[in-house]
Amino acid sequence: VALRSLFCWSRIGYRNWRWLALWWRHFILLWSTIDGQTRYTIPEELKQGSVVGNLAKDLGLGLSEIFDRKLRVASEAGKQYFNVDAGKGELVVNERIDRDTLCRQSASCVLPLQVVIENPLQLHRIEVEIRDINDNSPNFLTKDRVLKMAELTAVGARFPLESAEDPDVGSNSLKSYILSKDECFSVKVKDIEGGRKIPELVLEKPLDREKKAVHELLLTALDGGTPARSGTSQITVTVLDNNDNNPVFQKAVYKVRVNENSEKGTSLIKLEATDSDEGVNGEIEYSFGEHTLESVLSVFDIDAVTGEMFLRGELDYEVAASYRIDITAVDKGSPEMEGHCRVQVEVIDVNDNAPEIVLTSKPSPVREDAPSGTVVALISGRDLDSGNNGKVTLQLTNGHPFSLKPSFSNNYALVTSGVLDRESSSEYNIEITATDAAFPPLTTKKTIPVSVIDVNDNPPKFSQSSYNVYLKENGLPGSMLSSVSASDLDFGDNAKISYSILDFKVQDVSVSSYVYINSDNGSIYSMHSYDYEKLKGFQILVQAKDHGSPSLSSNATVHVFILDQNDNAPAVIYPSAALGSLPHQKMPRSTKAGYLVTKVTAVDADSGHNAWISYRLAEATDTSLFSVNLYTGEVRTKRAVSEQDDSSQRLLIEIQDDGEPVQSSTVTLAILVEDGLHEPILDLRQKVPEPSKKSGRITLYLILSLASVSVLSMVTFIILAVKCVRNSRSSGSCCMRRDDFDGDMMSQSQSFRSCLSPMSEFSDFTFVKPSSTTDFKEMINVLDASLPDSAWTFESQQVSGEL
Ligand SMILES: *[C@@H]1O[C@H](CO)[C@@H](O)[C@H](O)[C@H]1NC(C)=O
Ligand SMILES: *[C@@H]1O[C@H](CO)[C@@H](O)[C@H](O)[C@H]1NC(C)=O
Repeated sequence: VALRSLFCWSRIGYRNWRWLALWWRHFILLWSTIDGQTRYTIPEELKQGSVVGNLAKDLGLGLSEIFDRKLRVASEAGKQYFNVDAGKGELVVNERIDRDTLCRQSASCVLPLQVVIENPLQLHRIEVEIRDINDNSPNFLTKDRVLKMAELTAVGARFPLESAEDPDVGSNSLKSYILSKDECFSVKVKDIEGGRKIPELVLEKPLDREKKAVHELLLTALDGGTPARSGTSQITVTVLDNNDNNPVFQKAVYKVRVNENSEKGTSLIKLEATDSDEGVNGEIEYSFGEHTLESVLSVFDIDAVTGEMFLRGELDYEVAASYRIDITAVDKGSPEMEGHCRVQVEVIDVNDNAPEIVLTSKPSPVREDAPSGTVVALISGRDLDSGNNGKVTLQLTNGHPFSLKPSFSNNYALVTSGVLDRESSSEYNIEITATDAAFPPLTTKKTIPVSVIDVNDNPPKFSQSSYNVYLKENGLPGSMLSSVSASDLDFGDNAKISYSILDFKVQDVSVSSYVYINSDNGSIYSMHSYDYEKLKGFQILVQAKDHGSPSLSSNATVHVFILDQNDNAPAVIYPSAALGSLPHQKMPRSTKAGYLVTKVTAVDADSGHNAWISYRLAEATDTSLFSVNLYTGEVRTKRAVSEQDDSSQRLLIEIQDDGEPVQSSTVTLAILVEDGLHEPILDLRQKVPEPSKKSGRITLYLILSLASVSVLSMVTFIILAVKCVRNSRSSGSCCMRRDDFDGDMMSQSQSFRSCLSPMSEFSDFTFVKPSSTTDFKEMINVLDASLPDSAWTFESQQVSGEL
């Protein structure tokens, strides 16, 4: 029991000590009683009956004594491991002895035995040392062990492993561990207090889950026995993923070419990065680099999940011909890892920009007399595209006196190339076409207005080269005669006109005393009242002058025709009242009907109708006896004079002109009917003066004149007659018809002029003396009266009121 308790104690260190102390006390006690000590050494695990030693011999006892003295062996441990073979005196093994159970890990295992011999009682103490044999293999309690290890675990890190148990001691006990071959791991043995060895797994190389996610290790524990025994444990190291891998793009730089006119949403490229990590550590998000410019962000877009790049905005080669875009791929691990690449986007120019026409200098107005080649404006062509798409040529549309003169690159000068005339074209809209060299080309048109500056190159021009003005005589001074007007094709001052009258003489009087002109508008005013009978017309030379510098002028003639007014009453020439008494005519009582008593002759200073005289018998003593020829003024008897008729007859003859108003005068004739008188004697004969040398000359002159006038009249009459016949055939009218004279004064005058102009002044005689009777004496008198310098008086009477 004591021994058993001793062994029990030995399980724990300090109790072992106490056991040893107790044991040694016994031993010293025994030693004092028994001289010497017998010790046997046997290996453990001997078979029952195996001989440990010859106890009788060693104790010096005879065989008989063994039996007699009742030799027995008492085990202190309580368990009877040994017996004494009484026949042979040998100590034999009674029971299996397991040293490892008996002594645990003690280095020596000694079983103390007491040998008791009675008669006399003797106590002997023997020891049996049990030697360890290598009967146990090292053993791991856990056969399979799983270790989880972070991928980023530092090299050199140690992981304690379970140590193997080997109950054997000494050299048979656990001696070493070995690890199956793995480049990342090794095993080291750590000795701890109590001589125990703890294996530790040491990380020799960084783990890489991506290379090897699981390491299968076999740990073998070996003891020191011969042969050595071993035990194994399977160790599975699972490498936990660490986010230690960047997402990696296949290329560092991707190149993309894209047309600048590509539409929004066009896919440019699909980027792909890979990440060897697993789970979220390998989940990639794509984005633009951190410092990407806004100008890039506004144009490009990237799908964070698929990595596809799109056009978000519009490309413009002219704004940016290429882009370098940094792309980042980020995984979702912690910490996150990034990968980078660059996308080079090359924008391909498309001819999307029309050429531009730029005026480098504003077009300046050009003088109409500018010589060919005068620079009007500087123009340049521009195109934002590149290459041929940006090559610009400028062209002019034809039909302008302008051309384009190329100067250095794309610059042109717009120059005049012909004669300019502001009056025909004061402004040119020059259309310029710019075309680029692309296919198909783009064109732009621009209109450049060029104004032409006026030069005084046009003289004023009168509306008529000559003006005819018909002016009634006796007009009020200061009344407006006429208006001339001139126009000037030029502009501004060059077209501003002043009118003036060029001075020259009319009847030795300066024309400026006849008329004056409003210099602003060309209205001409008379300064006099004109007398047709003194002045039948005159000419004015009017000048229009512009205000240009130098100024230009032109002339026009104004013909002023003074129109006759019926301002003169007919004047009686015969019978003349010059004698102061009543004119007397005598005629015989034997006069038959149709006898020409006398002929009244009158003239009118006016002309035309105003001078067209008619005669009428206004009053008579006996109206049945006399008649007056309306046109000739001949006074004739209507019947034969009888005895009953008064010898003194008195006639009042009224002479009227055809003017408006009618002017008239009267003459009273006293006719004496004489009984014995046979031949009428004209009173006129008494009046005829002696023919002087002067009158003889005039007579000759008049005869010649009349002759030539008559011939001319005949010719004219024939021509007119022919004309009239023709005209009357076509228009049914003839200028000579009496009815035509019913118009106003002006048309009458024109009629006279056109039909009778060759007769001129003498034409008036035709009307003055329509009579077929030609009496030269009368003619002379009439002529005298119509000559301007002849001084003569006549009785005139305004009778229009009475009529
Ligand atoms: C010219 O001017 C005057 C004065 O202003 C005016 O009486 C006259 O009628 C004008 N003449 C014309 C043709 O306008
Ligand atoms: C106008 O008449 C004046 C005077 O006769 C003359 O000197 C001038 O040359 C004439 N002008 C024109 C344009 O005919």
